[in-house]
Amino acid sequence: MRGRKAEGARTKAAGKKKDMPQSEIETVQTTEKISRAEAAYRRRFDRHLDELKWLYMELYDNGPMFAELCDQLHCFYEERAKDLKKKDAEREKRPDWYKGNDMLGMMLYIDNFAENMQGVQEKLSYIKSCNVNYIHLMPFLDTPKGRSDGGYAVSDFRKVQPALGTMEDLESLTTACRKEGISVCMDFVMNHTSEDHEWAKRARAGEGEYMSRYFFFDNDAIPAEYEKTVPQVFPTTAPGNFTWLPDAGHYVMTSFYPYQWDLNYKNPRVFNEMMYNFLYLANKGIDIMRIDAVPYIWKELHTQCRNLKQVHTIVRMMRMIGEIVCPGVLLLGEVVMEPEKVVPYFGTVEKPECHMLYNVTTMATTWHTVATRDVRLLKRQLDIVNSLPKEYVFLNYLRCHDDIGWGLDYDTLHLWGCEERSHKQYLNNYFQGFEGESVSRGELYNADPVSGDARFCGTTASMCGVEKAGFEQDEEAMERALRRDVTLHAYMFMQSGIPVLYSGDEVGQVNDYSYKDDPDKAADSRYLHRGKMDWKLAEQISDKKSVAGRIFGQLDLLEKIRRSSQAFTVEADARTLDTGDDNVLGIDRVHGDEEILGIFNFSEYNKEVSVNGVEGTYTDMLTGEQLSPEKIPLPAYGFCYLARKHG
Ligand code: GLC
Repeated sequence: MRGRKAEGARTKAAGKKKDMPQSEIETVQTTEKISRAEAAYRRRFDRHLDELKWLYMELYDNGPMFAELCDQLHCFYEERAKDLKKKDAEREKRPDWYKGNDMLGMMLYIDNFAENMQGVQEKLSYIKSCNVNYIHLMPFLDTPKGRSDGGYAVSDFRKVQPALGTMEDLESLTTACRKEGISVCMDFVMNHTSEDHEWAKRARAGEGEYMSRYFFFDNDAIPAEYEKTVPQVFPTTAPGNFTWLPDAGHYVMTSFYPYQWDLNYKNPRVFNEMMYNFLYLANKGIDIMRIDAVPYIWKELHTQCRNLKQVHTIVRMMRMIGEIVCPGVLLLGEVVMEPEKVVPYFGTVEKPECHMLYNVTTMATTWHTVATRDVRLLKRQLDIVNSLPKEYVFLNYLRCHDDIGWGLDYDTLHLWGCEERSHKQYLNNYFQGFEGESVSRGELYNADPVSGDARFCGTTASMCGVEKAGFEQDEEAMERALRRDVTLHAYMFMQSGIPVLYSGDEVGQVNDYSYKDDPDKAADSRYLHRGKMDWKLAEQISDKKSVAGRIFGQLDLLEKIRRSSQAFTVEADARTLDTGDDNVLGIDRVHGDEEILGIFNFSEYNKEVSVNGVEGTYTDMLTGEQLSPEKIPLPAYGFCYLARKHG
């Protein structure tokens, strides 16, 4: 009906233009299109204007700067390519486009994966063969060699690192991805710039206008005040939150590495310019902006300078700015904090901030469960996540480019007789392979000899025992390691949200120790799991006897199962189950008449599990066998997906 009506409208318009010369028809058509596009812009702008202005004036009380921002939003909209606007319109009609059970991400370093952007474009068929429809391209903007923090120290927000390509290559890659139905995510590092950024150079040279875009102090009185309340992010590699610049005769605030200078968002020029950078990059065809280190972007003396209310004002404004100019673009917040601090970054359902957030506590709790084989804390954590509104979409992952910080619920662990410091030590010992029967391999990150605190680095495969079993050529141990690895992925696919693979995990890539030979990387053990993609492994994915083939084949099966059932969508009702066994986690997902049970054995023992609170007969989705939930056989480190149709 709707289609016919639209057709009718077209015929009428065509009738009017019947006697016009072709050139005039084109002009009329263009004008009609422009006005339609303009109307869409106006509608979105008007929807947000009041709130945007209110928040901006509350923060900056600067009318001319707000007017400039509004003008620039329109300019960026005008510059936005037609096919991106088309995509925006489609996504506006289907705002839940990213919440389906078909979403699967992969994060990758462009150089490690395929040398450069053109290389990534040539490898899109491999990415598709991994069932991936969302890629996170790790930082690729210009950054100084040796002082890059893996690309998180940006020296030019409008230039690609020459070794990786150009802005044209980026556009070509995002265009190719769009054609293939792959969304592209990039990092937007808005907390700081590199000391090589033009603003930083001019600030260092003493230009007041640019000094005011950072935090400059000519003596240590105020820095010392800040140090009283601001914890350190990198206690061993970058002690203190300030760096003395002898040539400039000033201290500058550097929350991360000394070469990453914190931007001062109290200055509206900083906010405006960074929003222009955001829109410039969005216009290159980016679908998802990962806002790096977002809790840190507002600083206030005598506070911890984290999660301040102004941060939320800024993220909310960014969300509205995105919705006005490029509503197809999503914001993914990087908030590596405890759950109570993470969830506010979703904003409220009426006034949303980020579209997606990392499920960081669940990730850390997962590895705690691997080491302890005790699922109780994970069950609690999943219960918290499952009780949140379904509008809140989490990005689930096992490993990413960063270390694992042991941010666990220590209050609960304490009740169970587990003390924070010794537990962290146990986890770090376990994953280094020092504890009991541990088969894990990996290294500490930022080990602080004073507090005894440390975080952990390693790939999923190495942490599951693939590296050790491969080295020792122990086929039985390899079988167990692969089972553990696949079970962890199966469990991750069962969580609500979007699962993201870490490139290389799909073929069981192990730790890469070569970073120690590179003086630019040697001090940062996170490079252990940032190795080059081993394409020899990828060549083996069809060989079902190879390690790569076994992992790849099983993940492929799970990914297809995930796509086949609506019970895996974000909208499904998810809950954990009582399995009567602290080694075994049970998750139940129901959507409409579809139900899936996922049962995961974290222990080294074969089990027969009886799940409480569910009944009937289920079909094992991998073997096709009929099973009763009262008698589920599970091998050591194994899992099963059981399905049932209701009604
Ligand atoms: C984020 C990144 C991390 C980086 C830091 C500073 O946490 O994930 O890799 O070191 O921000 O930009």
